[in-house]
Amino acid sequence: MDPKHPEPEPQKTEVIPATASAYLDPNYWDQRFAEEEHYEWFKDYSHFRHLILQHIKSDSSILEVGCGNSQLSDELYRDGITDLTCIDLSSVAVEKMKRRLFTKGYKEIKVLEADMLDLPFEDECFDVVIEKGTMDVLFVDSGDPWNPKPETSSNVMAMLQGVHRVLKPHGIFLSITFGQPHFRRPFFNAPVFTWSIEWRTFGDGFHYFCYILKKGKRSLDNGDAAKVDVPSISLYHEELDDESYLFRTNFDEM
Ligand SMILES: C[S@@+](CC[C@H](N)C(=O)[O-])C[C@H]1O[C@@H](n2cnc3c(N)ncnc32)[C@H](O)[C@@H]1O
Repeated sequence: MDPKHPEPEPQKTEVIPATASAYLDPNYWDQRFAEEEHYEWFKDYSHFRHLILQHIKSDSSILEVGCGNSQLSDELYRDGITDLTCIDLSSVAVEKMKRRLFTKGYKEIKVLEADMLDLPFEDECFDVVIEKGTMDVLFVDSGDPWNPKPETSSNVMAMLQGVHRVLKPHGIFLSITFGQPHFRRPFFNAPVFTWSIEWRTFGDGFHYFCYILKKGKRSLDNGDAAKVDVPSISLYHEELDDESYLFRTNFDEM
């Protein structure tokens, strides 16, 4: 972040829904983005920059899935990565994001209204796909996290198959999430995927995960994917704000 032009503090307005299943409703997101200018799910770029930049080159083509009103693309741009495409299902988020980036002069960044379950891109066209908190939306109504509902599983697989399809043969999927390895790995590790699986954690009291999936690098022991820094699991409400707690509890309580 440029110290001379600090970003304003993320805003938290009265946008928290009554139940977590609202996060599956596109109208909820449109209404929310109509009144909220900036909210950063989980953590901002400064917390995981070191984990993702090692996988991104300055000329990498990047797809950000479910950009919302996050400033992840602005931060990548400021780090010299300009071939960026952001998508979101919310037309309100897309219009506001386009306006914001245009005002800042970040005119190369493309912003499109699109559904992550049906990505409107050709096969093998991105070096990196990144998402932060977007796949998590699909889990908010999953029921038993150890045995998600068929609809949850089929949506998660549709998303992952789309991501895998649009990645170049040695492309990388970066997924930043609450979701713990025991709940994410069964999906990432489905036989249709050729990617290897690893993860890192970040955050202080509460740990977040950054999964790094490298297409074309799957090994026979993917099922035992390298375990790196997996924290003990805690569910302390005090460590999360109210909204993060609501978002999380439905899909990864132990
Ligand atoms: C939890 S927010 C995360 C926003 C942003 N990535 C961040 O880190 O702050 C989830 C985002 O996913 C978007 N979204 C939900 N379902 C989607 C879908 N099917 N396709 C694309 N975006 C979707 C929502 O509109 C929202 O912007």
